[in-house]
Amino acid sequence: MLTQLQNDFRDVMAGVATPVSVVTAFHDGSPHGTTVSAFTSLSMDPPMVLVSLDKTSRLLGLIRKSRRFGVNVLGAAQAETARSFAKKLEMGEKFAGVDWRRDNELPRLAGVPGWLACTVSQEVEGGDHIVLFGRVVSASTATAAPLTYHSRTFGTHSLLAQSA
Ligand SMILES: Cc1cc2nc3c(=O)[nH]c(=O)nc-3n(C[C@H](O)[C@H](O)[C@H](O)COP(=O)(O)O)c2cc1C
Repeated sequence: MLTQLQNDFRDVMAGVATPVSVVTAFHDGSPHGTTVSAFTSLSMDPPMVLVSLDKTSRLLGLIRKSRRFGVNVLGAAQAETARSFAKKLEMGEKFAGVDWRRDNELPRLAGVPGWLACTVSQEVEGGDHIVLFGRVVSASTATAAPLTYHSRTFGTHSLLAQSA
């Protein structure tokens, strides 16, 4: 049962538009991934990002062992991918029927507009989540409209109308 403050907090955060990524790692050669909105750029020198994972996340346990993770920044055509990687499934099951390949010893999804391979440089506890600081070891991009999450629905970015 959430408190009034927690409900209000959740509603405010639902109004914050975020990018949507699938964060990935390997476990004994088997790929695993989780849909994540809590991902942002952290540093340019050296290039770093941060990702926040629930303490109950299965992926978190894998990343803590392998000390590396991939960030697949999704495009507007990949809402179904975001939905399926947000399910609680056994190891390897989320990748059934998914087009992916190995890149920098990490699972990389096909057709993503943004890809980062990272090594974990630090972990910070934040309430019921763990924030992972990732040192970027490889980055590549392709031009595509982004997938966004706002008011509990998927969308994309669009330009404001030009003022006269
Ligand atoms: C749009 C969206 C964004 C999400 N963002 C996060 C997030 O930032 N961190 C997180 O731990 N879970 C997030 N989740 C929930 C996880 O994807 C979900 O709990 C998943 O089942 C965890 O799988 P795992 O236990 O295999 O890691 C998000 C789900 C959706 C649909």
